[in-house]
Amino acid sequence: MEAHLQDWISLLLRWLHVITGIAWIGSSFYFVWLDLSLRRRETLPEGVQGENWSVHGGGFYHAQKYLVAPAQMPEELHWFKWESYMTWISGFALMAVVYYWSAKSYLIDRTVLDLAPWQAVAVSLAGLAAGWIVYDLLCRSPLRRHQAVMFAVLFLFITLAAYLFGLAFSARAAFVHVGAMVATMMSGNVLMVIIPNQKIVVADLIAGRTPDPALGQAAKLRSTHNNYLTLPVLFMMISNHYPVTFGHAWNWAIVAFVLAIGAIVRDFFNRHNAGDKGAAIFWQWPVAAALMLALTVFSSWKPGGEILVEDDVYTAEALALVQVRCLSCHSAKPSDEDFEEAPGGVMFDSADQLKAWAPKVLAQAVLTQAMPLGNKTGMTEEERARLGAWIRTGMADD
Ligand code: HEC
Repeated sequence: MEAHLQDWISLLLRWLHVITGIAWIGSSFYFVWLDLSLRRRETLPEGVQGENWSVHGGGFYHAQKYLVAPAQMPEELHWFKWESYMTWISGFALMAVVYYWSAKSYLIDRTVLDLAPWQAVAVSLAGLAAGWIVYDLLCRSPLRRHQAVMFAVLFLFITLAAYLFGLAFSARAAFVHVGAMVATMMSGNVLMVIIPNQKIVVADLIAGRTPDPALGQAAKLRSTHNNYLTLPVLFMMISNHYPVTFGHAWNWAIVAFVLAIGAIVRDFFNRHNAGDKGAAIFWQWPVAAALMLALTVFSSWKPGGEILVEDDVYTAEALALVQVRCLSCHSAKPSDEDFEEAPGGVMFDSADQLKAWAPKVLAQAVLTQAMPLGNKTGMTEEERARLGAWIRTGMADD
């Protein structure tokens, strides 16, 4: 019953998380686009910096941007913030249900670090908090005036975080923690800087004071980071079911690739929306494609090389191996405390079942170390190599 309930809660939270995420990223993409597409015209009213006409859903929309603010504050002002807050709240709740509730399966890998569940959860919370604190300090340091240096430092910081999470958690949990940490930085920007600064500016304007331009600059810096981090963070979130990403021994390097590719593609859209042409929007796609190709090649490279298997491996040995390392979960009657049914419907009770799943077994337990989950059953490199040799040489019975 518990596992059933956990599945439902997890599914409902995922549903909510995807919906709020779409609302957040959607409105953020829309405003970035709107901002960059504003055009100056001769006839704009006083204080209006640019305008945009669009057509959607059977009507025409006319947006005008006032900088710093209109002479008269409107009675009703819509704030965009709950999209971001709810995305963080639902995402954190989802992470708790999957990774904290079943910490022994999903969060901890005892071959990486032998943590008790409460310790692993403490490290996870501390990691998210530390990520925000370090990032916030960086944004307040003199670095904030040098955009390119700041981006380079952020890139190194997130890659380092990926490496450090990898020293504490299972590979899959490490990967999702990078996503969660970056997402915490992004929501933190909205909650702690962008909205509070905007509130001060509005209060100043209503009181007839001139707002401090530093408030707007700080908010702009954070919102630029959010803009460039959007695509990478989405990749981290959806890659959780793709062991080619997190399952690599150097998965922090994969994070580095994804950060670069996502930011470069985002840059193309930013420049394109701003009306840039030629060289300014020519380089992004070829560079992103070349990096993507490099990433694909890199992901199939194994640091340390393959273990050589010199003798033949037959079905009986492979089945015995899988029974020791996989059957606690992948069986008609799992014995693992976290699973009442075989996960994903994958069962290895018989040789025929194992053979039917062979390509996936190769992907999950040989080419990458996604399985056994959190290496809960302690599978060795040697065993992975022997299982791989059996599959690659045609799964001979004798
Ligand atoms: C602690 C429990 C556990 C153990 C042990 C375990 N698995 Fe899994 N396995 C899972 C879970 C959970 C999933 C579903 C993963 C997901 O939702 O992404 C899964 C999914 C799979 C899949 C399906 C992936 C897909 O693409 O649909 C394969 C194949 C697999 N495991 C192979 C193995 C092999 C081979 C072993 C032993 C070497 C093993 N597993 C050991 C929990 C386990």
